[in-house]
Amino acid sequence: MAVSPKERIAMPVAGRPPLDVERIRQDFPVLRVLQRGRPIAYLDNAATSQKPQQVIDAIYRYYSEQNANVHRGVHYLSQQATDLYEQARSKVAKFVGTTVGCEIVFTRGTTESINLVAHSYGRQHVKSGDEILISHMEHHSNIVPWQMLCEQTGAHLKVIPINDDGELLLDEFEKLLTPRTKIVSIVHVSNALGTINPVKYIVDKAHAAGAVVVVDGAQATPHLPVTVKELGCDFYALSGHKMYGPTGIGVLYGRAELLERMQPFQGGGDMILSVTFEKTTYNHHPFRFEAGTPHIEGAIGLGAAIDYLHAVGIEKIAAHEHDLLEYGTQRLLEVDGLRLIGTARVKAGVLGFTLASAHPHDVGQILDDQGVAVRAGHHCAQPVMQRFGVPATTRASFGMYNTREEIDRMVDGLHEVNRIFG
Ligand code: ALA
Repeated sequence: MAVSPKERIAMPVAGRPPLDVERIRQDFPVLRVLQRGRPIAYLDNAATSQKPQQVIDAIYRYYSEQNANVHRGVHYLSQQATDLYEQARSKVAKFVGTTVGCEIVFTRGTTESINLVAHSYGRQHVKSGDEILISHMEHHSNIVPWQMLCEQTGAHLKVIPINDDGELLLDEFEKLLTPRTKIVSIVHVSNALGTINPVKYIVDKAHAAGAVVVVDGAQATPHLPVTVKELGCDFYALSGHKMYGPTGIGVLYGRAELLERMQPFQGGGDMILSVTFEKTTYNHHPFRFEAGTPHIEGAIGLGAAIDYLHAVGIEKIAAHEHDLLEYGTQRLLEVDGLRLIGTARVKAGVLGFTLASAHPHDVGQILDDQGVAVRAGHHCAQPVMQRFGVPATTRASFGMYNTREEIDRMVDGLHEVNRIFG
């Protein structure tokens, strides 16, 4: 019997969850900006999240009172900046569930983290005839680096198919795993579909086949508790700006035994122990992968974002966003001609859809006229659009500060689209 999208939502929540959203909203200055006299309903959190005052203050404080380069000076400011930078690393380590700070490499974001693995681990371990396994729901940042590695090495890229709800076909995954599979790289939460993938299951199967597992966690860390040691993955990538932190900062978690044996990604200052014209010896990890002056205020801002997430409580955030997902799904299904793209049983707060009456770009434009910010397009996941036979979708994606009332405003806007185009 067919199961309706409404019934597919897992993790039932009894009543409305205990998150003081009105209090949280006061921490986010952008939420007070008016568009045509009304606060913006910001439903584009999968693209980037807004920043709480606590993060903005940490960056301001750094530049007003603490600014210096790190790992280089004996002077007071440099030592202070170094301490703050390294404290941020420890906060990230704890946040993702490792006690080992040297397993945390600061990068520019998820994209750079995945490129680092492809470039460094990939070039050392992947050779002609090997296979790299990704899924049909990947973001371009978890497709293109592997294609580049395949071109360079002669390896083959294989793709795990997904069903019409946007769930991985796990039987097919197991059939695709072979002794030639060297890397499985999989998204934790799909940015276009919202699907939460069974990462631990994938890791266990991949390890049994002798492959290492890279997880794209960009859309997971703002919304779910993540413990890399429980997942058992080898690498985990995340982006600061999706989790209420600054842009330009991200993280690669890598198991120490693997990072220890990996060659540098980029050369320059801070990643060396000694340099002569004859020979350079490299620093140990994580510094070996952080050439040049790092994004110091980015790391400090990310540390502040993690403090903020801890203070609010990631479980409470997950419950609140699940409530929004359930409510939003029900409300969207009231709209004539609306097709949900992404109806997995286990989902995060992402609602992608098409309307029969209008192209997603027109939908996005009319919603913007109503002060509702959504993303319209292919979401850097063109193969997902191809899989569902659509050129693009409109996507609402939730954060901790969103409300049911904002969803109502979106739904009113969609009825308006139907009135104009229907
Ligand atoms: N990956 C980001 C998104 O999904 C930019 O919108």
